[in-house]
Amino acid sequence: MPDLRTSLHLDMLSRSRRENSFPKRIFWAFRRSLVRPLYGLEWGDPDIVPPLQFIRDRYVLPYVNAQHKAVEVGPGGGRWTRYLLGFETLYAVDYHRELLDELKRNFGRHRNVRFIENNGTDFPGIDGNSIDYLFSFGTFVHLEFNLIEAYLLAIKPIMKPGANIVIQYSDKTKIMAQLNDGFSENTPEKMREAVRAAGYRALEEDTTSLWHSSVIRFTI
Ligand SMILES: C[S@@+](CC[C@H](N)C(=O)[O-])C[C@H]1O[C@@H](n2cnc3c(N)ncnc32)[C@H](O)[C@@H]1O
Repeated sequence: MPDLRTSLHLDMLSRSRRENSFPKRIFWAFRRSLVRPLYGLEWGDPDIVPPLQFIRDRYVLPYVNAQHKAVEVGPGGGRWTRYLLGFETLYAVDYHRELLDELKRNFGRHRNVRFIENNGTDFPGIDGNSIDYLFSFGTFVHLEFNLIEAYLLAIKPIMKPGANIVIQYSDKTKIMAQLNDGFSENTPEKMREAVRAAGYRALEEDTTSLWHSSVIRFTI
């Protein structure tokens, strides 16, 4: 612990004044205005927000493998797609053409990303028994439960045995989900039961890190 003669605090103050000087603020404002932000970062950047960082580090990055094929359901602007580019093939599956167009603007240059418009719960053009990892964040939280059940049935045939499926869903046991009308009626108990009823085996659950939702990882 520095003693009372330390210059630590005065040094920190002058560093902050230097970093926030008027010319520096103009420079950063100009730079920010040149870069088009990724759609979705307004809900939190997984590079910056600790609970999302945790989801990225525990449920996404350890599974990225250059020999494996992956699916992302509801990629939006690509907030999470950024971390999935290391797969041999990434199928980005979205119901809305406009959202897929937005994703293409951001990631169209990546030859290993295939953009697939679906009919809400299906995987057109994806071979059976071919997928090692499936991820979805920010999408199942809004899906009605009958659509979630339909998705669970549709996911199964495209996955390889032992594959990992990671889905974030609405958790109405949490106050922040109860206050959000856009979040569907779901709970860890309901989700766990739907996963089991569809013939999967739950491997891991996170019901505490996120403030309005929970995450389940399961396999066939
Ligand atoms: C709120 S955004 C989340 C985007 C992104 N995953 C994120 O976390 O930033 C929801 C995304 O799911 C897509 N979506 C909505 N319903 C869908 C469905 N039934 N099947 C696939 N995608 C769907 C939307 O078009 C949109 O891209």
